Amino acid sequence: MNIRPLSILTAALLSLLCVGTALAAETTPAAQLQHWSAQAGAPGNAAKGQTFFNAKHGGEWSCASCHGTPPTAQGKHANTGKVIAPLAPAFNAKAFTDSAKVDKWFKRNCNDVLTRECSAAEKADVLAYLNSLK
Ligand code: HEC
Repeated sequence: MNIRPLSILTAALLSLLCVGTALAAETTPAAQLQHWSAQAGAPGNAAKGQTFFNAKHGGEWSCASCHGTPPTAQGKHANTGKVIAPLAPAFNAKAFTDSAKVDKWFKRNCNDVLTRECSAAEKADVLAYLNSLK
């Protein structure tokens, strides 16, 4: 009588744990680079990514405004001053390990900087640049 609720609870906890683990590392920086390169139909270019990252695209901010340049140390939000973990994966084990987070921030940040979404080629270039930082 007591075993059943317990095993249901255990099963629920176990499946939660599995989902949690899957979400925590369901993508990698290398997989992200490959994904956007495939979407763009060409491999990401680190030099182009660096130029893109540091450029103001007609607005007030560049990617570097918040993430720093090179983005190997903690960044600081240009508006709120909030500390941002390093964007380059070699300096931040959590960067580019959650595709929902990557998509969310690419969308938001590209809109802030370029007033449009970044293209697949631009994302591939940025990934190539960030992955090259050691
Ligand atoms: C106004 C400040 C700001 C600007 C400008 C900005 N970002 Fe960000 N970005 C953030 C913040 C804040 C986060 C979330 C950090 C966190 O919670 O870990 C973030 C996170 C990201 C992430 C998610 C990384 C991960 O953890 O997987 C990517 C990708 C990203 N930014 C790319 C860019 C690119 C590309 C540009 C330039 C087009 C840019 N950002 C410009 C503030 C900014």
